[in-house]
Amino acid sequence: MQALRSHEHIRDVNTRYHDVAATTYDEKWGIDFGETGRGQVLGKVRKLLGPELDAGFPCALEVGAGTGYFSLNLMAAGLIDDLTCTDISTGMLEALEHNAARLGLTGVSTVQTDAEALPFPDESFDLVLGHAVLHHLPDLDRAFTEFRRVLRPGGRIVFAGEPSRLGDRAARAPKRAARVLAPLWRRALGAAPLAGSVEATALEHGTDHALEAEVDIHAFSPTDLERLARAAGFSAVTVRGEELLANWFGWFNRGLEASAAPQDVPLWWRRYAFRGYLLLQRLDGRALEPRLPPAIFYNLLLTGRAPLERD
Ligand SMILES: C[S@@+](CC[C@H](N)C(=O)[O-])C[C@H]1O[C@@H](n2cnc3c(N)ncnc32)[C@H](O)[C@@H]1O
Repeated sequence: MQALRSHEHIRDVNTRYHDVAATTYDEKWGIDFGETGRGQVLGKVRKLLGPELDAGFPCALEVGAGTGYFSLNLMAAGLIDDLTCTDISTGMLEALEHNAARLGLTGVSTVQTDAEALPFPDESFDLVLGHAVLHHLPDLDRAFTEFRRVLRPGGRIVFAGEPSRLGDRAARAPKRAARVLAPLWRRALGAAPLAGSVEATALEHGTDHALEAEVDIHAFSPTDLERLARAAGFSAVTVRGEELLANWFGWFNRGLEASAAPQDVPLWWRRYAFRGYLLLQRLDGRALEPRLPPAIFYNLLLTGRAPLERD
């Protein structure tokens, strides 16, 4: 599918889609900058870095930072001193600046740029990170070369929230089940269907919601990610997988909720869906992740180290 569209087109669609998505992004994806959100982000990064995380990072760069979910939470936890957040979408960066101000975080700067062409000198950062961004980038070899270039020797890359190919395929079942059961679920809750189709909403508001299907251009196997990192010269490359049951549960509930007028979805349902997700996430982390291969989980996480000169 990717081969049929030019890289320029993919970047343009990503920019327009995320500019429109920015104002409701945090609400749609339940992005939180309180204790829960911080716990989620720290948990993911700790899976990759272990106790190394506690030393923190003086100077970090996030690519595809969106509204700041990953790096603002790490900064709020005191693990980043100086933070540069980049994104191809100015709408997203405006939302990020708003979030940083609301959290009282200083030392955050934003730069609108493509992750494949970073306007920073060589060896500028101790950490390059991203969450749910690699699967949007048309030229991943170029992007990883840039990550390596801007990292100081010994610096880390940390990426999380990337869809795995197998996990993505398996997630189609709960998504389909939600589509089939949505009318019954809405009737049981007395919820009205969401007004208008996606295309009608896009036309009505002059928005680009209809482009959603076009922005997700990759799903990965663990070896894909490992190869990309190694080809760019990273050492100590590790790929992990996370979330299986939590993910099926999450996609099913999200599918149901997305079919209804948001004000008709009762609070008790939202609480059940959120707490159930957290519970299953813990079960995945304790029982399944240590025993099953990364490839079958929904999300992949990657870390690697820019070699020291003596490496
Ligand atoms: C799924 S969102 C994730 C946002 C944020 N990292 C988070 O986890 O909430 C993907 C982000 O990547 C950005 N993006 C897409 N293509 C990009 C590119 N070529 N260069 C930089 N950012 C890009 C989008 O604008 C969007 O903010």
